[in-house]
Amino acid sequence: MIEKLQEIKEGAIKKISEVSDLKKLDEIRVAFLGKKGELTSVLRGMKDLTNDERPLIGKLANEVRELIEDELEKAKKGLSGLAREHQLKTEFIDVTMPAKRANIGHRHPMNVVLDDLKNIFIGMGYSIAEGPEIENDYYNFEALNIPENHAARDEQDTFYINKDIMLRTATSPVQVRVMENNKPPIRIIAPGRVYRSDEVDATHSPVFHQVEGLVIDKGVTMADLKGALAEFARELYGEKVKVKFRPHYFPFTEPSAEMDVSCVMCGGEGCRICRGSGWIEVLGCGMVHPKVLEMSGIDPNEYSGFAFGMGLERITMLRYGIEDLRLFYENDIRFLKQF
Ligand code: DAH
Repeated sequence: MIEKLQEIKEGAIKKISEVSDLKKLDEIRVAFLGKKGELTSVLRGMKDLTNDERPLIGKLANEVRELIEDELEKAKKGLSGLAREHQLKTEFIDVTMPAKRANIGHRHPMNVVLDDLKNIFIGMGYSIAEGPEIENDYYNFEALNIPENHAARDEQDTFYINKDIMLRTATSPVQVRVMENNKPPIRIIAPGRVYRSDEVDATHSPVFHQVEGLVIDKGVTMADLKGALAEFARELYGEKVKVKFRPHYFPFTEPSAEMDVSCVMCGGEGCRICRGSGWIEVLGCGMVHPKVLEMSGIDPNEYSGFAFGMGLERITMLRYGIEDLRLFYENDIRFLKQF
């Protein structure tokens, strides 16, 4: 039995010395000291020993057990140290590494331009008005002096919901709602979404954005219109920009005009964007038609005013030299980040 114990001791020490990870070490512990372990079974055999042998062998067996426990403990410490060292080596954080950039969004160029536009007009004393995108025939057409058989009412251009209700084709109906609900002096701009039954291409979309403007007071003239809109153009496109007004026709204004600005891309030399003319049309405008004033409850003998309307997509395209409006609706961050 003494020999057996000696054998167990040497076997255990050898195995422990060879072990390379904590899991295997535990397997060794079980193999020697566990319930069915080698040492345990030897101890079980003690009952067959003589009274003389028992204390001797018992002592030796205890010594062997303690020794194995000590060795296991030592090996365990060594291995956890190694494991920790390995962990420290492989899991260290290099604080000098550049951090991953958080992928944040970007303001939409049309929003950038709209904010500029609002600030320009707010600076001139205007406030912001809004109206519904679903309109009825009265506000969208009739109150704007657009006659029954006018081309603007054509089903090819207008998204009708029924005979009387439609998606607004312009922000102009907001003018009427503002005049109905406010006493002059009135000075507003009304930005918003508008709808027309157009095919999508580089310059058309069935949903786009306009900014409407309306000024009503006593003694407002075409000179006020020109002054306000020329100042707007200078603030939006820079001091050097030139403006010109061309006669035009709108049912809701008389007289009516379109405003051109000197080409923002070539400065008036003539280029692809302005098709060689040096000028670019940016908005429609005019003196509010007396009939429109009257229908909205404003006395045309007492008050006069001007109105204007522009496409936000167009204004933004010209500001940045963007040639395809579809880019605005794709929201590709690589596009948006450029503005
Ligand atoms: N409603 C016009 C359009 O959609 C734009 C416009 C022109 C608005 C002249 C106006 C204006 O208020 O006076 O093309």
